[in-house]
Amino acid sequence: MSKKPNVMILGTGRAVPKRVLTNADLEKMVDTTDEWIRERTGIERRFIADESDTTSALCAAAGRAALATAQLPAEKLDAIIIATVTGDVTFPSTACYVQEMLGATNAAAFDISAACTGFIYGLSLADSLITAGKAEHVLVIGGELLTRITDWTDRSTCVLFGDAAGAAVLGPSDGQRGIIDTFIKSDGRLTHLLNMPGGGTKVPPDVAIAEKMMFLRMEGREVFKHAVTAMGEAAEHIMKKNNLTGDDIKLLIPHQANMRIINATAKRVGMPLEKVYVNVQEYGNTSAASIPIAMNEALGNGRLQPGDRCLIVAFGGGFTWGSAIIQF
Ligand code: ACO
Repeated sequence: MSKKPNVMILGTGRAVPKRVLTNADLEKMVDTTDEWIRERTGIERRFIADESDTTSALCAAAGRAALATAQLPAEKLDAIIIATVTGDVTFPSTACYVQEMLGATNAAAFDISAACTGFIYGLSLADSLITAGKAEHVLVIGGELLTRITDWTDRSTCVLFGDAAGAAVLGPSDGQRGIIDTFIKSDGRLTHLLNMPGGGTKVPPDVAIAEKMMFLRMEGREVFKHAVTAMGEAAEHIMKKNNLTGDDIKLLIPHQANMRIINATAKRVGMPLEKVYVNVQEYGNTSAASIPIAMNEALGNGRLQPGDRCLIVAFGGGFTWGSAIIQF
């Protein structure tokens, strides 16, 4: 028997930039083909920010939508947690800008950096804050403008990423619905496989720009191997801990990085693809935004119904990985 939840999702929301970049557009920019991108990743198009878009504005739009669904005024938020690796500036936190945009005058606001696992890290933290009585309502947002740190001359990475934000408002559970469990983990020995080397205090800004260190760098094949193993383990671990099997899960929402990683994760936990949410073809990899966006879509299009149990699982730079089980 899995434990009773203390904390539930009261509302979700999502936001994307207006502009769409298709695989055909990319064919004109680098030496690639629509066929290669679809076969290796499943991606067909992605949303891409224009000059006026900011991570904070996208996060605020997603947050506003989640608050509206939850029917919660922004002043009732006790905390805003933003999971991002592409915040507006190094400091202050993007969450502080979003707090101002939402008018969430009573909230603590801070960012967390866990790359593509960021939303699950945020969910876990919010669950703990509310369970411990430190907060009643927490807004968790995963938001990224990854295309701003994309090297548009590197065909091995520039075809993969997109921009978006997804949000969830969390509050006390009704005793039935909510977060059953969360699991988060990391391995700092593997930081070199996926990172942006410049932009922090380690390398002077002029060197970072000259050496093209302000772009995301990735050892694709190595990341792929670790992602498949870690996502499978995270899913298996949390199901075992809660005495659940694939049959007890209505919908698996994996981080939408790559169709082949999604397929491998589903296979590992013994779930048929009909029970797996996939929208990577529409968005590309939106890092911390991908799971809340998928969750918001699934609630809107009926893939997630009241009473359904959902498993979410992610993997990202750090490396970080994690999973959660949510009863809707
Ligand atoms: N178009 C055409 N050819 C390409 C492209 C492209 N866009 N990119 C690479 N290639 C070429 C390579 O140059 C290479 O050519 P070569 O054999 O002549 O040297 C060939 O395709 C194979 O390259 P690989 O990198 O071995 O291709 P692979 O099958 O591994 O696919 C990919 C690359 C899609 C990046 C894969 O490694 C992958 O999915 N990795 C995981 C990436 C990921 O999802 N990261 C994010 C997870 S964590 C997070 O979300 C932040």
